[in-house]
Amino acid sequence: AIEAVGAREILDSRGNPTVEVEVLLDDGTVSRAAVPSGASTGAFEAYELRDGDENRYGGKGVLKAVAGVLDVLGPAIEGFDAADQRLVDAELIAADGTDNKSKVGANAILGVSLAVAKAAADSADLPLFRYLGGPNAHTLPVPLMNIINGGAHADTALDIQEFMVLPVGADTFADALRWGAEVYHALKSGLKKKGQSTGLGDEGGFAPDLPGARAALDFILEAIGTAGFSAGKDFLLGLDVAATEFFADGVYSFEKQKLTGDQLTEFWAGLVADYPLATIEDPLAEDDWDGYVHLTSELGDKVQIVGDDLFVTNPVRLQKGLDLKVANSILVKVNQIGTLTETLDAVSLAQRAGYTAILSHRSGETEDTTIADLAVATDSGQIKTGAPARSDRVAKYNQLLRIEEELGDAAVYAGRSAFPRAK
Ligand code: PGA
Ligand code: ZN
Repeated sequence: AIEAVGAREILDSRGNPTVEVEVLLDDGTVSRAAVPSGASTGAFEAYELRDGDENRYGGKGVLKAVAGVLDVLGPAIEGFDAADQRLVDAELIAADGTDNKSKVGANAILGVSLAVAKAAADSADLPLFRYLGGPNAHTLPVPLMNIINGGAHADTALDIQEFMVLPVGADTFADALRWGAEVYHALKSGLKKKGQSTGLGDEGGFAPDLPGARAALDFILEAIGTAGFSAGKDFLLGLDVAATEFFADGVYSFEKQKLTGDQLTEFWAGLVADYPLATIEDPLAEDDWDGYVHLTSELGDKVQIVGDDLFVTNPVRLQKGLDLKVANSILVKVNQIGTLTETLDAVSLAQRAGYTAILSHRSGETEDTTIADLAVATDSGQIKTGAPARSDRVAKYNQLLRIEEELGDAAVYAGRSAFPRAK
């Protein structure tokens, strides 16, 4: 049973404070979880509570959220069995009492929810992926590696937030990771040769000053070739457009043009025709439902269309998408919804409806590796956790290496099968 819950303020990968929680069980188990934080956040995400005290961390302190763990959430679940995750999470939600977790903060609630799951796994002496996924948890996800950063994650003019490489042709996760790292290094050389900056963005990808999507994709294709791989076979490509970030008053301000949603959709159709793109995330703004209906009917059978800001890991938003036939995939971020139970519910709802689900980091991360285990436990087949560089990103990839090793001969790498809609 849960005996005590502790919390502290720590730093995330951008140097901003975030919440870390420790749960103590009466058998002596102590387990810990840390909470990530986004930059290009969706308007419909659960509430991230920050202190607003300008004298500390520019107002971004999380001492109120820490106090919420100590004074409200901990006492609410003391005595609960840590294995009763659903009951624990329901109690946490009730203790907050608001629709969007704004009283105690989703950052406080998530930290407790994840630390309880880890404590239950540790107490049962099981790795987290096995505790959560049972005997069927054996598939290693394809890493969607973000190797060029733009948008809100870099100080460049590149509008698209993420350009990703997907090593689908590898036989194992370990090889997939190596392939991605080799392309990453080839890209660095290619950028350097053309006089481009090799400084990094928030998710460890390069942040060159490129004029647009096609220039970025061409650099990546060249890097794949230089590293000795074949684009379209060994690697597929992916984008996270994060289009909400350049949408205002009904207009998309994209690559120096003013576009309607349908015009932007035509641009994506052109890229899908010309490049081996398997996935496009948030190609339109988070509330452009009409635009999404049209885009999905045009492109939904050719490419994975992922709702991140669109669905915010929220079963209610996802259900609306299912009803309207909008997108065909959901990005899953634990702190967008705020409990493990609701996260798992969103994944189940998506998978039952034939949508893919991608476990994802945030641009602000910590050394916590929970999402690596979650990707295997939920059989998602895909994980998005940044470049194959920087410890906040690599921590998750390294955890997947350990999981693959632990599974031994039972391990299967999802590979191309994770992208049923790709050409
Ligand atoms: P965020 O970006 O964590 O800054 O929201 C990640 C994403 O948009 O997928
Ligand atoms: Zn996104």
